[in-house]
Amino acid sequence: MTSAQKPAAGRVALVTGASAGIGTAVAEEFAQRGYAVGIVGRDAKRLDEVRRRIDAAGGRVLALSGDLGDLGFAESVVRQVAAAFGRLDVLVNNAAARELKTMREMTPAEWDRTIRVCLTSPAFMARWAAEEMERHGGGVIVNVGSMMSRQAHGVSAAYVSCKGAMESLTYDLAALYGPAGIRVVTIAPGAIDTAMSSTLTNTPAADGRSEDPIREFSESMAMLGRWGRPEEVAKAVVWLASDEASYLTGTTLVLDGGWSRMHMPPAVTQAILQNAARG
Ligand SMILES: NC(=O)c1ccc[n+]([C@@H]2O[C@H](COP(=O)([O-])OP(=O)(O)OC[C@H]3O[C@@H](n4cnc5c(N)ncnc54)[C@H](OP(=O)(O)O)[C@@H]3O)[C@@H](O)[C@H]2O)c1
Repeated sequence: MTSAQKPAAGRVALVTGASAGIGTAVAEEFAQRGYAVGIVGRDAKRLDEVRRRIDAAGGRVLALSGDLGDLGFAESVVRQVAAAFGRLDVLVNNAAARELKTMREMTPAEWDRTIRVCLTSPAFMARWAAEEMERHGGGVIVNVGSMMSRQAHGVSAAYVSCKGAMESLTYDLAALYGPAGIRVVTIAPGAIDTAMSSTLTNTPAADGRSEDPIREFSESMAMLGRWGRPEEVAKAVVWLASDEASYLTGTTLVLDGGWSRMHMPPAVTQAILQNAARG
């Protein structure tokens, strides 16, 4: 029986950046489906709250707090989770921190830091995880990219570079590890309601009212008219890791409520139609 055929109850998933946002939702979704989960983040207190919730719901969980920019720690995480649960079936490279700095202001040290956490660490974690997965006939690596790497904003040069590279890395790893039964996919979310997104918004209107033009604009650009929820990303990640997606590898799932295919906000479309009606 290959890893891909094993019932979820025997499987093990490692989720990075599980102390907040999308990562918490992904870890809890895997646990609900019967996976044992390894969870990682720097904030030990928040991570422990997630650990306690999964534990209280009857799940098997190992929490390891530390900085994934430290590659020694990153490797130890992979090895400890595989040793604690006897195998590793899924790695979700979700942890990331986004600097809001343009290339005009960024220092080489800031650039290196983002590349280390958002690209180098996920790439090597994929390699170490694949070594564990190969022992048991296969597995799945889900890299969390971003729709932001496909559309220009000019506000976050290093972060978007990592997210774009994450997609290229996915294709390369999928080719390398496919023969070993390891699938590698990227999920590229659009605007999802988490702490990371809120750093872009909450722009006070000039008169001090709590209007949020950035949020309003981004909601209008999603065909579904709203931001996504972490739980919606989590369900897609768990599906990507499941047997239901057994022929899916070397590709990117864009999960953005339709934003990336939208050309202009509905208000502009309405104005065009009104102009046309006036003749
Ligand atoms: N939210 C969105 O709209 C959106 C859109 C597209 C893509 N994404 C991607 O989705 C993923 C999750 O984002 P999110 O919105 O859930 O962000 P978030 O709420 O800010 O959570 C980020 C997670 O990464 C962890 N993390 C950051 N730096 C770390 C480090 N050096 N070592 C260990 N853990 C670290 C954080 O934990 P600690 O703070 O405890 O270290 C936290 O658990 C990211 O890859 C992000 O790029 C998000």
